[in-house]
Amino acid sequence: MKCKITHKPIKPFMSFGKMPIANGFLEKQDFSKEYFYNMEVGFSEDISLLQLNDHPKPEVMFNENYPFFTSSSKHMIEHFKSYANFVRKYLNTNSKLIEIGSNDGTFLKNFSNNSNNIIGFEPSKNVAELAQKNKVPTINSFFNTKTIANINEYLGNTDLICASNVICHIPDLNDLIKSVDMLLSLDGTFVFEEPYLGSMFDQVSYDQIYDEHIYVFSVSSVSKIFERFNLYLVDAIPQKTHGGSMRYVVKRKNDKSSQIKKIIEEEKIKKLDQIESCLMFKNNCEISKKRIVDKINILKNQGKSICGYAATSKSTTILNYCQIGCDQIDYICDTTSEKIGKFSPGMHIPIKDMDYFRKNQTDCIYLFAWNHKLEILNKEKNFKGYWFSHVEL
Ligand code: TYD
Repeated sequence: MKCKITHKPIKPFMSFGKMPIANGFLEKQDFSKEYFYNMEVGFSEDISLLQLNDHPKPEVMFNENYPFFTSSSKHMIEHFKSYANFVRKYLNTNSKLIEIGSNDGTFLKNFSNNSNNIIGFEPSKNVAELAQKNKVPTINSFFNTKTIANINEYLGNTDLICASNVICHIPDLNDLIKSVDMLLSLDGTFVFEEPYLGSMFDQVSYDQIYDEHIYVFSVSSVSKIFERFNLYLVDAIPQKTHGGSMRYVVKRKNDKSSQIKKIIEEEKIKKLDQIESCLMFKNNCEISKKRIVDKINILKNQGKSICGYAATSKSTTILNYCQIGCDQIDYICDTTSEKIGKFSPGMHIPIKDMDYFRKNQTDCIYLFAWNHKLEILNKEKNFKGYWFSHVEL
């Protein structure tokens, strides 16, 4: 191993201000004890990595009441089916497969006829229990060098490790990569998908930044990070999910695809590997904030009612950074029972169910789940009012 990568504060290039836990939907009686931190963002030019400087402890975010279930989106269920088909080429009949952050088992369910050789790690108890109920073998714990010691038979013997939207949640990349290294067989493959820095910069979708997303990766950063551990990024495939993600394929042998070299060249041209692109992003965030606040003020001055659609973690960043509260948005509708009846983190907008939304029609909708736009607009064809968001719909 050439170098350690640990999460330590680096010189910030911007702050989004005081931020609550993104998924910390809460009851009225808990408003006064709500936890806040300063959401400052830095960039390590060394490894081209954008990161949060401060963040709540993972145990505060991923607990027995974690309110996110992958299967809440039909589109994501389909996506995980196609992801499973993509990785099958890395498996033999008796191969062992691990998923890090397996949530409700949506991805691993696609391998159910192989269930003796698959295992998911999921730290949130309520979500892990749902996966177990769905017959997906799941260990209810964080994935790290300590917890993998309990699955002896997988050490050095795992042909495939997968993850989705979870590597960016793990502060200690050093321990994560060490764990992957301990588990992978000689020809093993590690595949993971994450929101892509390039897409976030292009769309100014700064709401991808919140406590759980400690890092926002690019091909340049992933390549540099893994090389330090003698593991190599050999392929990168852009994905449409979450407004633009990247699927990374890591192996022990440095056999890079031509696609990787092309993307790294493109990233260099866009200066994604340098602080310049971050400073431009900062400026664009400020413009975006002013634009959305002005838009909402105009709608309110016209006497329009506004509701939010989908109480996403991302919405916590927008609402708190732009200081949008109940005076502007009457309520946010959502399908997740763990969020319904509670209030949004920080700005305390009430979360209502879809029945309430149908009975309390509104003039305008702020679509917080803009990444599920096609699925939602298709479902809500009867709504004849005005949809908007801070990213282009
Ligand atoms: P997602 O963008 O995956 O959330 P996050 O920013 O937290 O990663 O969206 C998931 C949330 O959106 C979840 O609270 C459920 C809600 N949702 C709906 O209410 N209706 C829908 O049709 C969809 C697709 C999501």
